[in-house]
Amino acid sequence: MPSPAFERPEQIRELFDRIAPHYDALNQTLSLGLHQVWKRMAVRWSGAAAGERVLDLCCGTGDLALQLARRVGRGGQVVGLDFSPAMLAIAQRRARQLFPDYSLEWVLGDALALPFPDGSFDAITMGYGLRNVTDIPQALREICRVLKPGRRAAILDFHRPRGIPFLESFQRWYLNSWVVAQAKALGLAAEYAYIDPSLDRFPSGEQQQQMALQVGFSAAKFYPLAGGMMGVLLVAR
Ligand SMILES: C[S@@+](CC[C@H](N)C(=O)[O-])C[C@H]1O[C@@H](n2cnc3c(N)ncnc32)[C@H](O)[C@@H]1O
Repeated sequence: MPSPAFERPEQIRELFDRIAPHYDALNQTLSLGLHQVWKRMAVRWSGAAAGERVLDLCCGTGDLALQLARRVGRGGQVVGLDFSPAMLAIAQRRARQLFPDYSLEWVLGDALALPFPDGSFDAITMGYGLRNVTDIPQALREICRVLKPGRRAAILDFHRPRGIPFLESFQRWYLNSWVVAQAKALGLAAEYAYIDPSLDRFPSGEQQQQMALQVGFSAAKFYPLAGGMMGVLLVAR
């Protein structure tokens, strides 16, 4: 059953506004720091290079955007977009502390209606965002529109490890018991209980490849990570 938290965009935004103050610490604890490895991989696969203008969608507290900044350097430009003001405020604060002399811009906006002209970016990343939007084909369509022709977007998210019963049981236990128990200690049990059910309605990597081709990408390939519990959809315009 889809979580009620996913019925309306305002509910999703409020959910992330509530999570924001604890988001980074919980991510670190719950993944034993591994989320940074997967994020680094997505940033590298996006093809972002020195001096380029790049976009991190659903940027949250800015992990991928900050890694992109390292990659494009002082001569490049990074834009982070999210619709949660609380997440974005943390991203902005981290950027001021860690990359004071880099070009980082934070935009409060909707991934389903991007406030950028066609072909604005050399590379795009999206970490754990696609599963949270209310219209996946529309999010992919917008990514395709604002990407320059021939360039890539890397979309990282949780996935169900299909066809591997042991890993699927482990993932269900991990998300429903371990993650929710840690979140409960912070009064956020309901907020984190949405993750496991959200995976049941998230299209598989193969389905996402098809969707990406249907909205106009010239190539799409899904790469499973962590035995398929995670994955990157790599798309090229
Ligand atoms: C799980 S967090 C991921 C944050 C960050 N990318 C990371 O990997 O740590 C998902 C983010 O997506 C944002 N989000 C969800 N739907 C969105 C939408 N339609 N437009 C913009 N941001 C959205 C939420 O506000 C939240 O910050």
